[in-house]
Amino acid sequence: MQNKLAQLTDLAIEEFKQAKGRRELYDIKVKYLGKQGQFSVIMKDMAQLPKEERPVFGKVVNEKKNLLEQFYSEQEAHLKKIELEQKISSERVDLTLPGPKRTTGGHHPIALVINDIVMILSRIGYSVRLGPQIEQDWYNFSALNIPADHPARDLQDTFYIDPSHVLRTHTSPIQIHTLENEKLPLRILAPGAVYRCDSDISHSPNFHQIEGMLVDKKVSMADLKGTIVFLLQNLFSTQIQVRFRPSYFPFTEPSAEFDCTCPLCKGKGCRMCKQTGWIEIGGCGLINPKVLEATKVDGEEWQGFAFGLGIERMAIIRYGIEDIRWFTENDVRFLEQFTS
Ligand code: PHE
Repeated sequence: MQNKLAQLTDLAIEEFKQAKGRRELYDIKVKYLGKQGQFSVIMKDMAQLPKEERPVFGKVVNEKKNLLEQFYSEQEAHLKKIELEQKISSERVDLTLPGPKRTTGGHHPIALVINDIVMILSRIGYSVRLGPQIEQDWYNFSALNIPADHPARDLQDTFYIDPSHVLRTHTSPIQIHTLENEKLPLRILAPGAVYRCDSDISHSPNFHQIEGMLVDKKVSMADLKGTIVFLLQNLFSTQIQVRFRPSYFPFTEPSAEFDCTCPLCKGKGCRMCKQTGWIEIGGCGLINPKVLEATKVDGEEWQGFAFGLGIERMAIIRYGIEDIRWFTENDVRFLEQFTS
């Protein structure tokens, strides 16, 4: 009997050692030490022993059972530790991996240039006005002294919605809305999208302009020049020079176009300025008395100047953009270069 007991104990220990998980270990414990287990069977056999041997045998059985219980606990702790280690290593986070990239939005280069111009001129009293993109003939043409036979009115140049409505071809109609509705004196900036039937590498049917207008008493060409030099030197650099060339616009008189020394080559001549050293920026002039008359402003009392420039052109110069169509293609690889 004693022998059988020793064998059974060894067998249990051996099986405990083999167990691969805590569940299996527990099943083995039940098999040996449980109510219906092997040790219970042996206890029943005890009845066959002579009476005097029974207590000794009973003691040995208890010793073996305690031994197995202890071995079980140790084994269980060991397996628990292994399971935990496996769990930790399978769930490990590699802190050296790069994190998920967070992309941020940003302003479109056109908006950046508009914002800069507005910031600069707001320092000398200008504030922003907006106008509709579908304009009546009056605002886009007639009130601006653009006669019926002017080439700008041609179907080739202008998108007509119907015979008396067009997609505005410039931001100058905002001059008219403002003169009709607001008190004088005033200084306004009117940025926005404009439309012309034109499309190639440097012309887009949809582009942007910003219009500036000042109306006050005793306004001269010198005030206009000073304002434009102030704007361009703040926008590019104080080193650049500005020149004015006589020109013609129906809504200004006298009229001029203005250029600045190429900010890229500083006037030496390069691809951007077509080797001339100068870049055309926009048009300007003193407000034609006919425009004041059309908007019922007393031209004896008030004078003014206006200027308009193309935003895409400013952005092209500032950021060295080669194709005007990139502005509207919405390619994030292009646009994300302007996020800071
Ligand atoms: N509206 C003119 C254009 O689109 C620019 C301009 C604005 C000229 C204001 C003079 C005064 O070409």
